[in-house]
Amino acid sequence: MSIEDRIRELEAKNKEAEACGGKERVEKQHAAGKLTARERILKLLDHGSFVEIDKFVVHRCHDFDLDKQKYLGDGVITGYGTIDGRLVFIFSQDFTVFGGSLSGAYAKKICKVMDLALKNGAPVIGLNDSGGARIQEGVESLGGYADIFLRNTLASGVVPQISAIMGPCAGGAVYSPAITDFILMVKDTSYMFVTGPEVIKTVTMEEVTKEKLGGAMTHNQVSGVAHLAAENEENCLVMIRELLSFLPQNNLDDVPERKTEDSPKRIDPKLNNFIPDNPKKPYDIKHIIESVVDDNYFFEIQSHYATNIIVGFGRFYGKSCGIVANQPAILAGCLDINASLKAARFVRFCDAFNIPIITFVDVPGFLPGTDQEYGGIIKHGAKLLYAFAEATVPKITIVTRKAYGGAYDVMSSKHLRGDANFAFPTAEIAVMGPEGAVQIIHKAALGKAADPEALKDTLVDQYRKTFANPYKAAELGFIDEIIKPEDTRAKIIQSLEMLRGKRDTNPPKKHGNIPL
Ligand code: HXC
Repeated sequence: MSIEDRIRELEAKNKEAEACGGKERVEKQHAAGKLTARERILKLLDHGSFVEIDKFVVHRCHDFDLDKQKYLGDGVITGYGTIDGRLVFIFSQDFTVFGGSLSGAYAKKICKVMDLALKNGAPVIGLNDSGGARIQEGVESLGGYADIFLRNTLASGVVPQISAIMGPCAGGAVYSPAITDFILMVKDTSYMFVTGPEVIKTVTMEEVTKEKLGGAMTHNQVSGVAHLAAENEENCLVMIRELLSFLPQNNLDDVPERKTEDSPKRIDPKLNNFIPDNPKKPYDIKHIIESVVDDNYFFEIQSHYATNIIVGFGRFYGKSCGIVANQPAILAGCLDINASLKAARFVRFCDAFNIPIITFVDVPGFLPGTDQEYGGIIKHGAKLLYAFAEATVPKITIVTRKAYGGAYDVMSSKHLRGDANFAFPTAEIAVMGPEGAVQIIHKAALGKAADPEALKDTLVDQYRKTFANPYKAAELGFIDEIIKPEDTRAKIIQSLEMLRGKRDTNPPKKHGNIPL
Protein backbone atom coordinates (compact mmCIF):
# COMPACT_ATOMS: atom_id res chain seq x y z
CA MET A 1 0.00 0.00 0.00
CA SER A 2 1.45 3.36 -0.97
CA ILE A 3 1.57 6.22 1.54
CA GLU A 4 -1.08 8.00 -0.52
CA ASP A 5 -3.37 4.99 -0.11
CA ARG A 6 -2.63 4.86 3.59
CA ILE A 7 -3.48 8.54 3.97
CA ARG A 8 -6.68 8.00 1.98
CA GLU A 9 -7.54 5.14 4.35
CA LEU A 10 -6.93 7.41 7.36
CA GLU A 11 -9.10 10.13 5.84
CA ALA A 12 -11.89 7.64 5.18
CA LYS A 13 -11.74 6.45 8.78
CA ASN A 14 -11.83 10.03 10.04
CA LYS A 15 -14.87 10.67 7.89
CA GLU A 16 -16.54 7.54 9.18
CA ALA A 17 -15.90 8.57 12.80
CA GLU A 18 -17.28 12.03 12.10
CA ALA A 19 -20.50 10.64 10.64
CA CYS A 20 -21.89 9.95 14.15
CA GLY A 21 -24.66 7.31 14.17
CA GLY A 22 -25.57 7.96 10.53
CA LYS A 23 -27.45 10.52 8.49
CA GLU A 24 -30.90 9.49 9.67
CA ARG A 25 -30.07 9.73 13.36
CA VAL A 26 -28.25 13.04 12.88
CA GLU A 27 -31.34 14.42 11.13
CA LYS A 28 -33.47 13.22 14.03
CA GLN A 29 -31.12 14.94 16.46
CA HIS A 30 -31.35 18.22 14.51
CA ALA A 31 -35.12 17.92 14.16
CA ALA A 32 -35.33 17.68 17.96
CA GLY A 33 -33.60 21.09 18.20
CA LYS A 34 -30.29 19.54 19.26
CA LEU A 35 -26.79 19.85 17.86
CA THR A 36 -24.61 16.78 17.39
CA ALA A 37 -21.89 15.99 19.89
CA ARG A 38 -19.20 17.26 17.51
CA GLU A 39 -21.08 20.45 16.58
CA ARG A 40 -21.37 21.26 20.28
CA ILE A 41 -17.63 20.92 20.86
CA LEU A 42 -16.78 23.04 17.84
CA LYS A 43 -19.17 25.78 18.94
CA LEU A 44 -17.93 25.75 22.52
CA LEU A 45 -14.18 25.79 22.04
CA ASP A 46 -12.02 28.51 20.52
CA HIS A 47 -12.05 28.18 16.75
CA GLY A 48 -9.61 25.52 15.51
CA SER A 49 -8.42 24.57 19.00
CA PHE A 50 -10.05 21.15 19.37
CA VAL A 51 -7.73 18.13 19.47
CA GLU A 52 -9.51 14.80 19.45
CA ILE A 53 -8.26 11.73 21.31
CA ASP A 54 -9.36 8.09 20.83
CA LYS A 55 -11.32 8.78 17.68
CA PHE A 56 -11.18 5.14 16.53
CA VAL A 57 -12.03 3.40 19.80
CA VAL A 58 -14.83 0.82 19.49
CA HIS A 59 -16.70 -1.29 22.02
CA ARG A 60 -15.84 -4.92 22.72
CA CYS A 61 -19.29 -6.32 23.33
CA HIS A 62 -20.42 -9.47 21.53
CA ASP A 63 -23.77 -10.00 23.23
CA PHE A 64 -27.06 -9.04 21.58
CA ASP A 65 -25.25 -9.03 18.18
CA LEU A 66 -23.53 -5.81 19.18
CA ASP A 67 -20.32 -6.93 17.43
CA LYS A 68 -22.19 -6.28 14.18
CA GLN A 69 -22.84 -2.68 15.19
CA LYS A 70 -19.67 -0.74 15.74
CA TYR A 71 -19.20 3.01 15.41
CA LEU A 72 -15.75 4.59 15.44
CA GLY A 73 -15.48 6.57 18.65
CA ASP A 74 -18.26 4.47 20.23
CA GLY A 75 -20.64 7.31 21.04
CA VAL A 76 -18.45 9.80 22.85
CA ILE A 77 -16.06 12.42 21.50
CA THR A 78 -13.16 13.26 23.81
CA GLY A 79 -10.18 15.57 23.71
CA TYR A 80 -8.98 19.03 24.65
CA GLY A 81 -8.93 22.58 23.37
CA THR A 82 -9.10 26.14 24.62
CA ILE A 83 -11.75 28.58 25.81
CA ASP A 84 -10.59 32.22 25.72
CA GLY A 85 -7.12 30.79 25.20
CA ARG A 86 -7.21 28.66 28.36
CA LEU A 87 -6.83 24.86 28.26
CA VAL A 88 -9.92 22.70 28.92
CA PHE A 89 -10.57 18.97 28.60
CA ILE A 90 -13.87 17.88 27.17
CA PHE A 91 -16.11 14.91 26.46
CA SER A 92 -19.28 15.11 24.43
CA GLN A 93 -21.78 12.25 24.37
CA ASP A 94 -23.27 11.30 21.03
CA PHE A 95 -26.94 10.41 21.33
CA THR A 96 -26.97 9.16 17.73
CA VAL A 97 -24.84 6.16 18.72
CA PHE A 98 -26.74 3.73 21.00
CA GLY A 99 -28.52 6.73 22.58
CA GLY A 100 -25.20 8.01 23.91
CA SER A 101 -25.17 5.06 26.31
CA LEU A 102 -21.94 4.24 28.07
CA SER A 103 -19.86 1.13 27.32
CA GLY A 104 -16.64 0.02 29.00
CA ALA A 105 -14.56 1.40 26.11
CA TYR A 106 -16.50 4.69 26.17
CA ALA A 107 -15.89 5.03 29.91
CA LYS A 108 -12.16 4.51 29.40
CA LYS A 109 -12.14 7.40 26.89
CA ILE A 110 -13.74 9.71 29.45
CA CYS A 111 -11.39 8.51 32.20
CA LYS A 112 -8.40 9.25 29.96
CA VAL A 113 -9.32 12.93 29.51
CA MET A 114 -10.18 13.27 33.18
CA ASP A 115 -6.78 11.87 34.15
CA LEU A 116 -5.12 14.32 31.75
CA ALA A 117 -7.15 17.19 33.20
CA LEU A 118 -6.06 16.32 36.73
CA LYS A 119 -2.40 15.96 35.80
CA ASN A 120 -2.41 19.20 33.85
CA GLY A 121 -4.62 21.21 36.18
CA ALA A 122 -7.33 22.19 33.72
CA PRO A 123 -11.14 22.17 33.91
CA VAL A 124 -13.22 19.26 32.64
CA ILE A 125 -16.38 19.96 30.66
CA GLY A 126 -18.88 17.17 30.07
CA LEU A 127 -21.59 17.62 27.42
CA ASN A 128 -24.08 14.97 28.46
CA ASP A 129 -26.67 13.40 26.18
CA SER A 130 -26.98 9.78 27.23
CA GLY A 131 -29.37 7.01 28.24
CA GLY A 132 -26.91 5.89 30.93
CA ALA A 133 -25.21 2.52 31.18
CA ARG A 134 -25.30 0.57 27.88
CA ILE A 135 -27.74 -2.13 28.81
CA GLN A 136 -26.23 -4.74 26.46
CA GLU A 137 -22.84 -4.48 28.19
CA GLY A 138 -24.14 -5.19 31.66
CA VAL A 139 -21.75 -4.87 34.54
CA GLU A 140 -18.88 -3.69 32.31
CA SER A 141 -20.74 -0.43 31.75
CA LEU A 142 -21.61 -0.14 35.44
CA GLY A 143 -17.92 -0.56 36.24
CA GLY A 144 -17.15 2.11 33.65
CA TYR A 145 -19.47 4.54 35.41
CA ALA A 146 -17.90 3.79 38.78
CA ASP A 147 -14.47 4.54 37.26
CA ILE A 148 -15.82 7.94 36.18
CA PHE A 149 -17.51 8.63 39.55
CA LEU A 150 -14.20 7.94 41.29
CA ARG A 151 -12.41 10.43 39.05
CA ASN A 152 -15.19 13.02 39.50
CA THR A 153 -14.68 12.68 43.24
CA LEU A 154 -10.89 12.82 43.15
CA ALA A 155 -10.99 15.83 40.83
CA SER A 156 -13.50 17.63 43.07
CA GLY A 157 -11.82 20.70 44.54
CA VAL A 158 -8.76 20.22 42.30
CA VAL A 159 -10.05 21.28 38.87
CA PRO A 160 -13.43 22.85 38.07
CA GLN A 161 -15.88 20.31 36.60
CA ILE A 162 -18.79 21.57 34.53
CA SER A 163 -21.65 19.43 33.23
CA ALA A 164 -24.09 20.51 30.55
CA ILE A 165 -27.19 18.36 30.17
CA MET A 166 -28.17 18.52 26.52
CA GLY A 167 -30.59 15.64 26.06
CA PRO A 168 -32.37 12.95 28.01
CA CYS A 169 -29.93 11.78 30.69
CA ALA A 170 -30.65 8.82 32.91
CA GLY A 171 -28.93 6.53 35.39
CA GLY A 172 -25.16 6.98 35.51
CA ALA A 173 -25.49 9.91 33.13
CA VAL A 174 -26.96 11.96 35.97
CA TYR A 175 -24.83 10.75 38.87
CA SER A 176 -21.57 11.81 37.27
CA PRO A 177 -22.85 15.39 36.69
CA ALA A 178 -24.22 15.39 40.24
CA ILE A 179 -20.69 15.12 41.63
CA THR A 180 -19.42 17.98 39.44
CA ASP A 181 -19.41 21.65 40.40
CA PHE A 182 -22.00 23.13 38.06
CA ILE A 183 -24.86 21.64 36.06
CA LEU A 184 -26.41 23.55 33.16
CA MET A 185 -29.62 22.35 31.54
CA VAL A 186 -31.23 23.30 28.24
CA LYS A 187 -34.92 24.17 28.42
CA ASP A 188 -37.32 21.83 26.56
CA THR A 189 -34.65 19.40 25.30
CA SER A 190 -32.79 18.17 28.36
CA TYR A 191 -33.90 15.91 31.19
CA MET A 192 -32.28 14.30 34.21
CA PHE A 193 -33.70 11.37 36.09
CA VAL A 194 -32.46 8.30 37.86
CA THR A 195 -35.29 6.36 36.19
CA GLY A 196 -37.62 7.62 33.48
CA PRO A 197 -41.42 8.03 33.48
CA GLU A 198 -42.05 4.55 32.06
CA VAL A 199 -40.22 2.73 34.83
CA ILE A 200 -41.89 4.94 37.43
CA LYS A 201 -45.31 4.04 36.01
CA THR A 202 -44.50 0.33 36.19
CA VAL A 203 -43.08 0.42 39.69
CA THR A 204 -45.25 2.95 41.53
CA MET A 205 -48.15 3.52 39.09
CA GLU A 206 -47.33 7.24 39.22
CA GLU A 207 -47.82 9.03 35.90
CA VAL A 208 -45.56 11.98 35.19
CA THR A 209 -44.22 13.64 32.06
CA LYS A 210 -40.46 13.71 31.52
CA GLU A 211 -40.57 17.52 31.61
CA LYS A 212 -42.22 17.55 35.02
CA LEU A 213 -40.06 14.72 36.30
CA GLY A 214 -36.69 16.00 35.23
CA GLY A 215 -36.89 18.99 32.87
CA ALA A 216 -34.63 22.04 33.08
CA MET A 217 -36.98 24.06 35.28
CA THR A 218 -37.75 21.11 37.57
CA HIS A 219 -34.07 20.86 38.43
CA ASN A 220 -33.40 24.60 38.42
CA GLN A 221 -36.45 25.54 40.47
CA VAL A 222 -37.69 22.58 42.46
CA SER A 223 -34.91 20.10 43.20
CA GLY A 224 -31.95 22.47 43.08
CA VAL A 225 -29.91 19.81 41.25
CA ALA A 226 -29.10 22.19 38.38
CA HIS A 227 -27.43 25.60 38.56
CA LEU A 228 -28.25 27.27 35.26
CA ALA A 229 -31.11 27.02 32.74
CA ALA A 230 -30.33 27.86 29.13
CA GLU A 231 -32.91 28.89 26.53
CA ASN A 232 -31.31 26.69 23.89
CA GLU A 233 -28.07 24.81 23.18
CA GLU A 234 -26.19 27.82 21.81
CA ASN A 235 -27.11 29.81 24.91
CA CYS A 236 -25.93 26.90 27.08
CA LEU A 237 -22.51 26.85 25.39
CA VAL A 238 -22.17 30.63 25.81
CA MET A 239 -23.01 30.24 29.51
CA ILE A 240 -20.25 27.64 29.94
CA ARG A 241 -17.70 30.05 28.47
CA GLU A 242 -19.01 32.82 30.69
CA LEU A 243 -18.90 30.69 33.82
CA LEU A 244 -15.34 29.55 33.10
CA SER A 245 -14.22 33.17 32.73
CA PHE A 246 -14.72 33.59 36.49
CA LEU A 247 -12.87 30.42 37.50
CA PRO A 248 -9.20 29.60 37.94
CA GLN A 249 -7.79 26.60 36.10
CA ASN A 250 -7.25 24.60 39.28
CA ASN A 251 -6.98 24.84 43.06
CA LEU A 252 -3.38 26.11 42.96
CA ASP A 253 -4.05 28.79 40.39
CA ASP A 254 -4.94 32.42 41.15
CA VAL A 255 -8.39 33.67 40.18
CA PRO A 256 -8.55 35.17 36.71
CA GLU A 257 -8.49 38.94 36.41
CA ARG A 258 -10.10 40.89 33.59
CA LYS A 259 -9.15 44.48 32.78
CA THR A 260 -11.89 47.01 33.36
CA GLU A 261 -12.45 50.71 32.82
CA ASP A 262 -14.76 50.78 35.85
CA SER A 263 -13.01 52.90 38.48
CA PRO A 264 -12.12 51.18 41.78
CA LYS A 265 -13.13 54.40 43.55
CA ARG A 266 -16.53 54.70 41.86
CA ILE A 267 -19.21 55.70 44.37
CA ASP A 268 -22.97 55.29 43.99
CA PRO A 269 -24.78 58.04 45.96
CA LYS A 270 -28.14 56.40 45.16
CA LEU A 271 -27.22 53.58 47.55
CA ASN A 272 -27.37 55.99 50.52
CA ASN A 273 -31.14 56.20 50.24
CA PHE A 274 -31.73 52.68 49.02
CA ILE A 275 -32.37 50.81 52.28
CA PRO A 276 -35.97 51.59 53.36
CA ASP A 277 -36.48 53.46 56.66
CA ASN A 278 -39.06 50.92 57.68
CA PRO A 279 -37.10 47.79 58.69
CA LYS A 280 -40.03 45.61 57.67
CA LYS A 281 -40.05 46.89 54.10
CA PRO A 282 -38.43 44.59 51.55
CA TYR A 283 -35.92 45.66 48.92
CA ASP A 284 -33.99 43.85 46.20
CA ILE A 285 -30.41 43.11 47.29
CA LYS A 286 -29.49 42.47 43.65
CA HIS A 287 -29.70 46.21 43.14
CA ILE A 288 -26.81 46.69 45.59
CA ILE A 289 -24.80 43.82 44.10
CA GLU A 290 -25.20 45.12 40.56
CA SER A 291 -24.32 48.61 41.67
CA VAL A 292 -20.96 47.60 43.15
CA VAL A 293 -19.54 44.97 40.75
CA ASP A 294 -17.45 45.91 37.71
CA ASP A 295 -19.58 47.23 34.88
CA ASN A 296 -22.67 46.33 36.94
CA TYR A 297 -22.32 42.75 35.68
CA PHE A 298 -23.38 39.97 38.03
CA PHE A 299 -23.44 36.33 36.85
CA GLU A 300 -26.03 34.68 39.05
CA ILE A 301 -25.97 30.97 39.85
CA GLN A 302 -29.14 29.05 40.81
CA SER A 303 -31.28 32.12 40.23
CA HIS A 304 -34.51 30.09 40.27
CA TYR A 305 -33.87 28.10 43.45
CA ALA A 306 -34.09 29.19 47.09
CA THR A 307 -34.45 32.78 45.95
CA ASN A 308 -34.26 34.05 49.55
CA ILE A 309 -30.50 33.82 49.10
CA ILE A 310 -28.50 34.99 46.10
CA VAL A 311 -25.20 33.49 44.94
CA GLY A 312 -23.07 34.19 41.90
CA PHE A 313 -19.93 35.70 40.48
CA GLY A 314 -18.86 39.26 39.87
CA ARG A 315 -15.60 41.14 39.45
CA PHE A 316 -14.13 43.87 41.60
CA TYR A 317 -11.59 45.93 39.70
CA GLY A 318 -11.03 42.90 37.49
CA LYS A 319 -10.74 40.29 40.21
CA SER A 320 -13.23 37.46 40.14
CA CYS A 321 -15.21 37.03 43.40
CA GLY A 322 -18.04 34.90 44.70
CA ILE A 323 -21.00 36.82 46.08
CA VAL A 324 -23.46 35.52 48.68
CA ALA A 325 -26.38 37.70 49.75
CA ASN A 326 -29.56 37.34 51.76
CA GLN A 327 -32.49 38.53 49.67
CA PRO A 328 -34.87 40.61 51.84
CA ALA A 329 -37.38 40.70 48.98
CA ILE A 330 -38.11 36.96 49.43
CA LEU A 331 -39.16 35.48 52.79
CA ALA A 332 -37.60 38.60 54.35
CA GLY A 333 -34.21 37.04 53.57
CA CYS A 334 -34.67 34.26 56.16
CA LEU A 335 -32.30 31.31 56.04
CA ASP A 336 -34.13 28.06 55.42
CA ILE A 337 -33.02 24.56 54.45
CA ASN A 338 -32.76 25.19 50.71
CA ALA A 339 -31.04 28.57 51.09
CA SER A 340 -28.50 27.05 53.48
CA LEU A 341 -27.72 24.19 51.09
CA LYS A 342 -27.45 26.48 48.08
CA ALA A 343 -25.13 28.94 49.78
CA ALA A 344 -23.03 26.32 51.59
CA ARG A 345 -22.16 24.53 48.36
CA PHE A 346 -21.29 27.81 46.67
CA VAL A 347 -19.10 28.97 49.56
CA ARG A 348 -17.22 25.65 49.53
CA PHE A 349 -16.70 25.89 45.78
CA CYS A 350 -15.24 29.38 46.10
CA ASP A 351 -13.02 28.35 48.98
CA ALA A 352 -11.73 25.29 47.11
CA PHE A 353 -10.74 27.47 44.16
CA ASN A 354 -9.26 30.52 45.90
CA ILE A 355 -12.16 32.77 44.96
CA PRO A 356 -12.71 35.56 47.54
CA ILE A 357 -16.19 35.65 49.05
CA ILE A 358 -18.18 38.87 49.42
CA THR A 359 -21.20 38.46 51.69
CA PHE A 360 -24.13 40.89 51.95
CA VAL A 361 -26.17 40.38 55.10
CA ASP A 362 -29.80 41.26 55.73
CA VAL A 363 -31.21 38.31 57.62
CA PRO A 364 -33.88 38.25 60.33
CA GLY A 365 -32.89 34.70 61.34
CA PHE A 366 -33.65 31.08 60.45
CA LEU A 367 -37.16 30.37 59.16
CA PRO A 368 -39.17 28.98 62.09
CA GLY A 369 -41.71 26.15 61.89
CA THR A 370 -42.29 22.42 61.95
CA ASP A 371 -41.61 22.01 58.21
CA GLN A 372 -38.14 23.36 58.70
CA GLU A 373 -37.45 21.53 61.96
CA TYR A 374 -38.68 18.17 60.64
CA GLY A 375 -36.72 18.74 57.45
CA GLY A 376 -33.54 19.14 59.47
CA ILE A 377 -32.87 22.89 59.39
CA ILE A 378 -30.50 22.31 62.31
CA LYS A 379 -28.13 20.15 60.28
CA HIS A 380 -28.66 21.98 56.99
CA GLY A 381 -28.19 25.42 58.53
CA ALA A 382 -25.06 24.05 60.18
CA LYS A 383 -23.68 23.30 56.72
CA LEU A 384 -23.60 26.98 55.87
CA LEU A 385 -22.06 27.79 59.23
CA TYR A 386 -19.43 25.10 58.64
CA ALA A 387 -18.74 26.28 55.09
CA PHE A 388 -18.13 29.89 56.09
CA ALA A 389 -16.12 28.83 59.15
CA GLU A 390 -13.72 26.54 57.27
CA ALA A 391 -13.24 28.94 54.33
CA THR A 392 -9.76 30.45 54.27
CA VAL A 393 -10.12 32.66 51.19
CA PRO A 394 -10.47 36.44 51.69
CA LYS A 395 -13.89 37.03 53.25
CA ILE A 396 -15.51 40.46 53.14
CA THR A 397 -18.87 41.02 54.80
CA ILE A 398 -21.26 43.95 54.54
CA VAL A 399 -24.27 44.08 56.89
CA THR A 400 -26.82 46.24 55.09
CA ARG A 401 -29.67 45.91 57.58
CA LYS A 402 -30.66 42.99 59.84
CA ALA A 403 -28.16 40.55 61.26
CA TYR A 404 -30.09 38.76 63.94
CA GLY A 405 -29.44 35.70 66.04
CA GLY A 406 -27.62 32.63 64.80
CA ALA A 407 -27.92 33.96 61.27
CA TYR A 408 -25.63 36.86 62.28
CA ASP A 409 -22.98 34.36 63.29
CA VAL A 410 -23.47 32.24 60.16
CA MET A 411 -23.20 34.96 57.53
CA SER A 412 -19.42 35.29 57.43
CA SER A 413 -19.22 37.09 60.76
CA LYS A 414 -15.96 38.25 62.31
CA HIS A 415 -16.10 35.23 64.61
CA LEU A 416 -15.89 32.86 61.61
CA ARG A 417 -12.71 34.58 60.43
CA GLY A 418 -14.32 37.34 58.39
CA ASP A 419 -11.38 39.49 57.23
CA ALA A 420 -13.16 42.79 56.64
CA ASN A 421 -16.56 43.23 58.25
CA PHE A 422 -18.47 46.37 57.33
CA ALA A 423 -21.91 47.63 58.27
CA PHE A 424 -24.14 50.30 56.82
CA PRO A 425 -25.46 52.84 59.37
CA THR A 426 -28.84 51.13 58.79
CA ALA A 427 -27.56 47.84 60.22
CA GLU A 428 -29.31 46.18 63.17
CA ILE A 429 -27.11 43.61 64.87
CA ALA A 430 -28.63 41.82 67.87
CA VAL A 431 -29.85 38.50 69.22
CA MET A 432 -33.31 39.12 67.84
CA GLY A 433 -35.60 41.80 66.46
CA PRO A 434 -37.04 44.43 68.88
CA GLU A 435 -40.61 43.06 69.00
CA GLY A 436 -39.57 39.50 69.82
CA ALA A 437 -36.91 40.58 72.29
CA VAL A 438 -39.24 42.88 74.25
CA GLN A 439 -41.92 40.16 74.53
CA ILE A 440 -39.39 37.85 76.15
CA ILE A 441 -37.27 40.03 78.41
CA HIS A 442 -40.18 42.23 79.58
CA LYS A 443 -42.84 39.52 79.79
CA ALA A 444 -43.56 40.13 83.49
CA ALA A 445 -43.70 43.93 83.19
CA LEU A 446 -45.95 43.75 80.12
CA GLY A 447 -48.27 41.34 81.93
CA LYS A 448 -48.75 43.76 84.80
CA ALA A 449 -48.93 46.99 82.77
CA ALA A 450 -52.13 49.03 82.69
CA ASP A 451 -51.53 49.77 79.01
CA PRO A 452 -49.35 46.90 77.68
CA GLU A 453 -49.38 48.20 74.10
CA ALA A 454 -48.06 51.63 75.10
CA LEU A 455 -45.39 50.07 77.29
CA LYS A 456 -44.43 47.69 74.52
CA ASP A 457 -44.00 50.60 72.08
CA THR A 458 -41.74 52.39 74.55
CA LEU A 459 -39.68 49.29 75.25
CA VAL A 460 -39.37 48.44 71.55
CA ASP A 461 -38.17 51.98 70.91
CA GLN A 462 -35.63 51.71 73.73
CA TYR A 463 -34.38 48.34 72.48
CA ARG A 464 -34.09 49.66 68.94
CA LYS A 465 -31.98 52.61 70.12
CA THR A 466 -29.73 50.38 72.25
CA PHE A 467 -29.33 47.27 70.12
CA ALA A 468 -30.88 47.64 66.67
CA ASN A 469 -27.91 49.47 65.22
CA PRO A 470 -24.34 48.61 64.24
CA TYR A 471 -22.59 50.56 67.01
CA LYS A 472 -22.65 47.89 69.74
CA ALA A 473 -20.97 45.42 67.33
CA ALA A 474 -18.51 48.13 66.28
CA GLU A 475 -17.65 48.87 69.93
CA LEU A 476 -16.71 45.21 70.34
CA GLY A 477 -14.65 45.13 67.14
CA PHE A 478 -17.05 42.65 65.49
CA ILE A 479 -17.62 45.24 62.79
CA ASP A 480 -14.40 46.85 61.56
CA GLU A 481 -15.96 49.94 60.05
CA ILE A 482 -19.34 51.52 59.56
CA ILE A 483 -19.43 52.76 56.00
CA LYS A 484 -21.55 55.02 53.87
CA PRO A 485 -23.48 52.79 51.44
CA GLU A 486 -22.19 54.85 48.49
CA ASP A 487 -18.62 53.74 49.31
CA THR A 488 -19.33 49.99 49.26
CA ARG A 489 -17.51 49.24 45.99
CA ALA A 490 -14.44 51.23 46.96
CA LYS A 491 -14.31 49.57 50.41
CA ILE A 492 -14.58 46.07 48.93
CA ILE A 493 -11.82 46.74 46.41
CA GLN A 494 -9.59 48.32 49.04
CA SER A 495 -10.06 45.26 51.28
CA LEU A 496 -9.39 42.83 48.43
CA GLU A 497 -6.16 44.68 47.73
CA MET A 498 -5.20 44.46 51.43
CA LEU A 499 -6.01 40.73 51.41
CA ARG A 500 -4.13 39.96 48.19
CA GLY A 501 -1.46 38.02 50.07
CA LYS A 502 -3.78 36.41 52.62
CA ARG A 503 -2.62 33.04 53.95
CA ASP A 504 -4.75 31.12 56.41
CA THR A 505 -4.97 27.42 57.11
CA ASN A 506 -7.07 24.89 58.96
CA PRO A 507 -5.58 22.24 61.28
CA PRO A 508 -4.14 19.24 59.40
CA LYS A 509 -6.73 16.47 59.07
CA LYS A 510 -7.87 13.83 56.61
CA HIS A 511 -11.07 15.78 56.06
CA GLY A 512 -13.64 17.46 58.23
CA ASN A 513 -17.08 15.99 58.87
CA ILE A 514 -19.51 18.58 57.49
CA PRO A 515 -23.04 17.72 58.73
CA LEU A 516 -24.27 16.09 55.50
C1 HXC B 1 -28.48 0.92 25.29
C2 HXC B 1 -29.88 2.66 24.73
C3 HXC B 1 -29.94 3.07 26.07
C4 HXC B 1 -29.19 2.32 27.04
C5 HXC B 1 -31.15 4.39 24.92
N1 HXC B 1 -30.66 3.50 24.06
N2 HXC B 1 -30.73 4.14 26.16
N3 HXC B 1 -29.16 1.59 24.34
N4 HXC B 1 -28.47 1.27 26.60
N5 HXC B 1 -29.15 2.66 28.33
C6 HXC B 1 -30.89 3.44 22.61
C7 HXC B 1 -32.29 3.03 22.25
O1 HXC B 1 -32.39 1.62 22.22
C8 HXC B 1 -32.44 3.63 20.85
O2 HXC B 1 -31.78 2.81 19.94
C9 HXC B 1 -31.63 4.92 20.98
O3 HXC B 1 -30.77 4.75 22.10
C10 HXC B 1 -32.52 6.12 21.25
O4 HXC B 1 -33.35 5.84 22.35
P1 HXC B 1 -34.92 6.14 22.36
O5 HXC B 1 -35.51 5.41 23.52
O6 HXC B 1 -35.49 5.87 21.00
O7 HXC B 1 -34.93 7.73 22.57
P2 HXC B 1 -35.90 8.60 23.44
O8 HXC B 1 -37.33 8.24 23.18
O9 HXC B 1 -35.48 10.01 23.20
O10 HXC B 1 -35.62 8.22 24.96
C11 HXC B 1 -34.33 8.45 25.51
C12 HXC B 1 -34.24 7.83 26.92
C13 HXC B 1 -34.68 6.32 26.81
C14 HXC B 1 -35.17 8.58 27.87
C15 HXC B 1 -32.81 8.01 27.40
O11 HXC B 1 -33.96 5.70 25.74
C16 HXC B 1 -34.41 5.57 28.06
O12 HXC B 1 -35.22 5.63 29.02
N6 HXC B 1 -33.33 4.79 28.09
C17 HXC B 1 -32.96 3.97 29.24
C18 HXC B 1 -32.57 4.84 30.38
C19 HXC B 1 -32.16 4.12 31.62
O13 HXC B 1 -32.99 3.52 32.33
N7 HXC B 1 -30.86 4.11 31.87
C20 HXC B 1 -30.35 3.57 33.09
C21 HXC B 1 -29.29 2.61 32.77
S1 HXC B 1 -28.67 2.02 34.31
P3 HXC B 1 -32.28 2.67 18.44
O14 HXC B 1 -31.34 1.68 17.81
O15 HXC B 1 -33.69 2.19 18.53
O16 HXC B 1 -32.19 4.04 17.84
C22 HXC B 1 -27.42 3.07 34.73
C23 HXC B 1 -26.79 2.78 36.08
C24 HXC B 1 -25.44 3.37 36.24
O17 HXC B 1 -27.07 3.97 34.04
C25 HXC B 1 -25.01 3.47 37.68
C26 HXC B 1 -25.71 4.58 38.43
C27 HXC B 1 -25.24 4.80 39.85
